[in-house]
Amino acid sequence: MENGKPVLLHIDSSPMGQESVSRQLTHEFVKRWRAAHPTGTVTSRDLTAMEIPVIDAEWITANLTPREVRTAEQERVLTLSTELTQELLAADEYVIGMPMHNWGPSSSFKLWVDQVVRFGETIVVTPEGPRGTLGAKRVTLILAAGRQYGAGSAEASKNYLEPWLRTFFANLGVTRIRVVLADGTVRLRYGQVDRAELLAPHLETVRNMAAAG
Ligand SMILES: Cc1cc2nc3c(=O)[nH]c(=O)nc-3n(C[C@H](O)[C@H](O)[C@H](O)COP(=O)(O)O)c2cc1C
Repeated sequence: MENGKPVLLHIDSSPMGQESVSRQLTHEFVKRWRAAHPTGTVTSRDLTAMEIPVIDAEWITANLTPREVRTAEQERVLTLSTELTQELLAADEYVIGMPMHNWGPSSSFKLWVDQVVRFGETIVVTPEGPRGTLGAKRVTLILAAGRQYGAGSAEASKNYLEPWLRTFFANLGVTRIRVVLADGTVRLRYGQVDRAELLAPHLETVRNMAAAG
């Protein structure tokens, strides 16, 4: 909340621009969220429009160094990470769009993930073990995949993306996790399904989620 006003963090990570299914769905979510939260603010991040470095030994050491004893150089190494982490901490909820790429997330989203697991910020070490600090947040994950992963289908057991995402957000303390999977999008490429027809149920779902508050 910013002065009592809700904040939505909107992240896209598909490299496919206008053609992207996940982007179309996150944009619909944002439109409805704005309508349902007239005093709210939206922070948007297009992970494909920015350079997110791969974490290295220097970065990992800086992250593991408690803030009070970090050097100015270590703070500099963590600059982008700190900015992205602050966005997560400042928002009340997140809507995140991503394509399934090689049974996992888009590369840009994985780079973002590595930047926001910050000791003393999004995760704290307690005598009982590590604890995520994002327990008050809610995340809506909007995934698009070429193949179909419905229960009972041949591919059902190969949707590694969703359990990985659930594990990642749960580790940061998020318990309110909603997942929308727009699968079977490869049929668009071969003209086997109409885009509007494929997207209609998912658009309805995200509209309802955004308005639910
Ligand atoms: C590099 C690449 C890898 C992909 N890997 C998979 C995959 O492992 N499983 C799958 O079902 N679809 C896969 N697809 C298809 C995409 O998931 C599909 O096109 C989806 O609609 C992408 O989301 P977007 O439309 O938001 O970009 C892949 C596509 C690309 C370009």
